[in-house]
Amino acid sequence: MLNLKPSVQDSARDRGMTRRDFLKFCSLMTGVLALPRSYSTRIEKALAAPARTPVIWLEFQDCAGCTESLLRASRPSVAEIVLDVLSVDYHETIMAASGYQAEDAKKATIDAGGYLLVVEGAIPMAENGIYCTIGGRTAIDLLEEAASNAIAVVAVGNCATFGGLPAAKPNPTGAVQVNELVTDKPVLNLSGCPYNVVNLTATVVHFLTFGELPAMDDLGRPLFAYGARIHDNCERRGHFDAGEFVQAWGDEAHRKGWCLYKMGCKGPVAFHNCPAVRWNDGTSWPVKSGHGCIGCSEPGFWDLGVYNQADLQQFAPPTTYAPVQLPSANVDPAAAGIIGAVAGAAVGAAGVAAYNALSKSDEPEEDSAPEKKE
Ligand code: SF4
Ligand code: F3S
Repeated sequence: MLNLKPSVQDSARDRGMTRRDFLKFCSLMTGVLALPRSYSTRIEKALAAPARTPVIWLEFQDCAGCTESLLRASRPSVAEIVLDVLSVDYHETIMAASGYQAEDAKKATIDAGGYLLVVEGAIPMAENGIYCTIGGRTAIDLLEEAASNAIAVVAVGNCATFGGLPAAKPNPTGAVQVNELVTDKPVLNLSGCPYNVVNLTATVVHFLTFGELPAMDDLGRPLFAYGARIHDNCERRGHFDAGEFVQAWGDEAHRKGWCLYKMGCKGPVAFHNCPAVRWNDGTSWPVKSGHGCIGCSEPGFWDLGVYNQADLQQFAPPTTYAPVQLPSANVDPAAAGIIGAVAGAAVGAAGVAAYNALSKSDEPEEDSAPEKKE
C-alpha cells in the first residue's frame, strides 16, 4: 500500500503552480513516456489522486552527480513538481535532518513499507564491503536493509546500473551494480552519467498512472527512454548517411555540424532519449554541443575509450521518419508491431519537442479544457 499523502496536483497548486504549467507537465510526461497525446488526461487524473510515492535515496560509490541532476531540474514545471512526485523521506545529501534524526526518518519509512528505493552509486564487495561504510555500516548492509521493504528499486546513474567508474578496470574495490545484490525485487535501471531527472519523474508518473513500472529492455532500462538508438534520432544523422564526417576538432566539417562518428561518437551503439529530452532546460545535448556521445548509458562505457571509434554492428532507420502505410491485407503482425513501436517513439519525440518549444515561448496561453476522450 502506498502511504496516502496530498496529491501531486494539490501540492503543486499549494506552492503556486498554475494549472497551465501543470497541464504542460502532464503533456511533457506523455511525450517522454512515448504515449499517445490523449493519455495526458489519464496522467492528469492519476496525479490528482491522493497518493504520492515515498522515496528513500541512498548514495554509495558515486560522485553525487545524479543528486545534482535531481536538484538541477531547471525546467519550470519539472523543477517545481519533481519533489512533489517524489516524496523524498530520506536523502543524506539534501535532507535537513542529520544524525539520529535522519536515521529515525529512514527507519520509519522502511517500517511503513510501500516506498521506492532509489540508489545512486556502485557497491564495493571486496574485503567484505569495507571500501564504502556509512555510520559504521557497509553499503552492502545498508542496501539490503533498505531494499527489504521497498516496492521496487530504481538504480540511477551508470555506477548503480552497471558499476560505472568504480567498476572500470581494474576495479580495485570489487564494485558491482545494484541488481547483482538485489535479486528479489524489481530493479529498474536509469543509466547515464548522470541519469536524466526527466526520466526518473516519468518513471514515477508511469507508476502512479498505471500502477506498475514501465516495460524494460534486457538491461532493465525503461523502453520509453532507452528503446531507441541515439544515432537514429540524431540531427547529424544525414551527414553520417552522406559520408560527411568531422576529421579533426575545429575543422571546417566540425564548424558545419557534420557527423562526429570518426571523433569517437558512440551514438550508433548507445540507447538513450537524449536527442529528444536533452539537458539543461531542454537546451542541448552532447552531440548538439559539438562533442560525440561517449555512451554513458551503456555498460562498461568507461573502458570503451572516449575517442575510440564505435564498432558498428547494424543500422536502423531514424524513428522520426513518418510511419509506413502498410497494405491492409497480408500484414505481418510482427512487422506491424515494430512499426507501431517506431511510430510510438516518434510520437514521444514529437511531444517532447512540442513541449520544448512551448516552454521557451513567452506567449500567454489560455488554459485548455482536458481532453475527454482517450
Ligand atoms: Fe550523430 Fe554520432 Fe550518429 Fe554521427 S555517429 S549521426 S554524431 S549519433
Ligand atoms: Fe550520455 Fe551519450 Fe546521452 S554521452 S548523455 S548517452 S548523448
